[in-house]
Amino acid sequence: MSRILVRGGRVLDPSTDRDELADVLLESGRVVSVGPDLRVDDVEVIEAAGCWVVPGFIDLHSHLREPGQEYKEDIATGGRAAVAGGFTAVACMANTQPVNDDPATTDFIIDRARQDSPARVYPVAAATKGLEGRVMTEMAALVDAGAVAFSDDGKTIMDSGVMRHVLEYSRLVDAPVITHAEDRTLVADGVMNEGAVSTRLGLPGNPGIAEDVLVARDLMLAEFTEAHLHVAHVSTRGAVELIRRARDRGVHVTAEVAPHHLTLTDESVTGYDTHAKVAPPLRSEADRDACRAGLVDGTLDAIATDHAPHAQHEKEVDFVEAPPGMIGFETAAAVTLELVRSGDLTPLEWIRRLSTNPARILGRPGGSLGEGKTADVTIVDPERAWVYDPAKGCSKSRNSPWAGKSLTGRVVATLVEGRRVYDVERGPLT
Ligand code: DOR
Repeated sequence: MSRILVRGGRVLDPSTDRDELADVLLESGRVVSVGPDLRVDDVEVIEAAGCWVVPGFIDLHSHLREPGQEYKEDIATGGRAAVAGGFTAVACMANTQPVNDDPATTDFIIDRARQDSPARVYPVAAATKGLEGRVMTEMAALVDAGAVAFSDDGKTIMDSGVMRHVLEYSRLVDAPVITHAEDRTLVADGVMNEGAVSTRLGLPGNPGIAEDVLVARDLMLAEFTEAHLHVAHVSTRGAVELIRRARDRGVHVTAEVAPHHLTLTDESVTGYDTHAKVAPPLRSEADRDACRAGLVDGTLDAIATDHAPHAQHEKEVDFVEAPPGMIGFETAAAVTLELVRSGDLTPLEWIRRLSTNPARILGRPGGSLGEGKTADVTIVDPERAWVYDPAKGCSKSRNSPWAGKSLTGRVVATLVEGRRVYDVERGPLT
């Protein structure tokens, strides 16, 4: 394997608290050395002056749609979109067709990813058969096949007894349970956040309390079972507060927040833009601010995209009918850099939430540029201005609320296991 020298960038490594101008030498898929002015012969050089050189982003939450809905996305296009967004690894949710609830499907995803995806792909298996919330999946067999976590994401496990058993068994296989926390009886037919905006638009509301109630239940069950609960896409002030208090009590809980819940509110639905429809929904300003504060103080450990591709014809319908979800790999860095520019997060803390913490939560490699660590590296130009055009992106789908928007900050190169897989001028290199 060839040697690569990433030269002259600002190296940001939360695992070692390193923040300095340095060179990074990669060889045989590993970080070999990091330091100023490394002298190396016979090496491919990537010039990184003016850029940040960071451990590759790791996305805890995405939908790659394969098997079964390849018209929206597949593992190849999803993997290319991931590396274009700086993600060297992505966890993919189980709501495929068929559902990833048996080892053969997990195997298929891993095989396909090995062949087709420039990013590492970590399958999240269903917690219950068919995502029906009734019968547990065979967790040990799924972990043996390569599942990294369990979740009925997209659907909530409403039966508390089932959730208890899922959490108990998850301890035996040492994998987190990722909860999609929306009480379906409170969501009812809600299609956007319940509040002044839903009233004005005449759309049925989905109240924040639907999330708070389920987060409270799952935290209590996690405390009772002593299992690792991971709360997906936190969107309410109440949920942030509940997680903060549970963490203080010693509950084994981790949590993620999506770029859209950090930066947008339900006002984006004005105009009935179906690209602003997502589950859980975009909330109030107070909720958004609480999510930002939660991310800053560490209550929310990670930024995760919830990349959820849908075809144009599916989104070009009445707001009530449109499926929820938005793509997010290629915009996540630029959108969340706003928190760095506002002074809420230092660059190092930003990377911690995009890379080091997700690696820790999943117990996978990455999240570090320490010597000897895997050479998954992302290079970001934090000042680069660009206009996002999903049609020119790598995803098969275009459902983004940032389509046509001017953004600042762009991933310029991505390396997985020491191999360059994306370059902003040339696109994906696989
Ligand atoms: O908005 C969403 N879309 N939220 C989910 O939980 C599921 C996802 C999807 O699969 O489209």
